[in-house]
Amino acid sequence: MTDGEGGLRWGVIGTGGIAHSFLEALRATPTGRVTAVGSRSAERARTFADTWGIAVSHGGYAELARDEDVDVVYVATPHPWHHSHALMCLEAGKHVLVEKPMAMNALQVAEMVAAARSGGLFLMEAMWTRYLPAYRLARDLVADGMIGRLCSLSAEFGINVPFDPDHRLFNAELGGGALLDLGVYPLALATDFLGDLTIVGATRQLSPDRMVDTHTTVLARGEGGVAATLSCASRSTMPGRAVLVGTEGWLEMDRVWAPTEVVVHRDGREPEVFHRPYRGNGYVHEAEEVARCVARGLSQSPDMPWSESLRLARLMDLVRDVGGFVDQDAESVAG
Ligand SMILES: NC(=O)c1ccc[n+]([C@@H]2O[C@H](COP(=O)([O-])OP(=O)(O)OC[C@H]3O[C@@H](n4cnc5c(N)ncnc54)[C@H](OP(=O)(O)O)[C@@H]3O)[C@@H](O)[C@H]2O)c1
Repeated sequence: MTDGEGGLRWGVIGTGGIAHSFLEALRATPTGRVTAVGSRSAERARTFADTWGIAVSHGGYAELARDEDVDVVYVATPHPWHHSHALMCLEAGKHVLVEKPMAMNALQVAEMVAAARSGGLFLMEAMWTRYLPAYRLARDLVADGMIGRLCSLSAEFGINVPFDPDHRLFNAELGGGALLDLGVYPLALATDFLGDLTIVGATRQLSPDRMVDTHTTVLARGEGGVAATLSCASRSTMPGRAVLVGTEGWLEMDRVWAPTEVVVHRDGREPEVFHRPYRGNGYVHEAEEVARCVARGLSQSPDMPWSESLRLARLMDLVRDVGGFVDQDAESVAG
């Protein structure tokens, strides 16, 4: 299922911001090339194809899914459509890389996984962080005991976007909310380092129209009582760090979603700084992982397996279900 040059033939669904970033990344790797793009509009598909030198543009997603010159589809639509678009491609026999979060809830993720399993196809949530050199170094250092036994972890991702009810981040119909869009990164870091998490509590602040969360903080407990404090925000800039604390020191990553630097502070020693920039805009690493896995006949990436996407989706379902922790206005509290 590769072209004559040994590379994967990619198709892209959606022509928005992240689709352009991913195309820039694909350009920087010899492991794949884009053969077709699909948009809801023929004109937008054509414009995108012209921008990136793609031979075929489809004015419809179903046409892209059926395109015989496509091996793997990158689903880059807003989260409420990840489920239906990924299923459409899997049912057409295509491998799928789907943007994060994998879907709106765990049930949808389970259905996507079932479709990939029954079709013997590759499916992966685009959790690109896991393939970045600095992140991988941090994982190795912790596994090698550099900071001793892990005791606690904190991570956050917050950006300050002006409130606009039509913006994807704030519009519930477009899958809005800080948790699904941004919180997925600190949560993914926590599940990667700690495994299964128990949600101890969560606080959420809502948008002015009270439709989606703008700030969410989760307190969770990993195996052995390791604590995780995880925050995200769409209306505040946060430092964006991840800090892992062990019995013999602590390790810090500069940006939880795309780290380039790891600093290890070991008790009684000078801090050690490791610079590990990613290539290009960073998405090239996940694109290469997809190519590697498909070439090896794998259905899942060992670093972002289906069980991880299911675990993340379940956790985010739980956080949103912890209704008693949602901010209440003074009237309802008093009443
Ligand atoms: N990995 C990352 O770093 C990263 C960064 C940003 C976003 N993302 C993820 O990527 C996904 C898309 O985000 P984005 O920022 O690229 O969004 P965006 O700029 O709004 O683009 C989304 C695209 O999806 C298509 N689409 C299909 N149905 C749509 C609908 N009902 N409303 C709006 N657009 C629709 C549109 O393409 P056509 O009109 O051409 O069909 C649109 O251009 C999200 O799930 C987000 O979480 C990931």
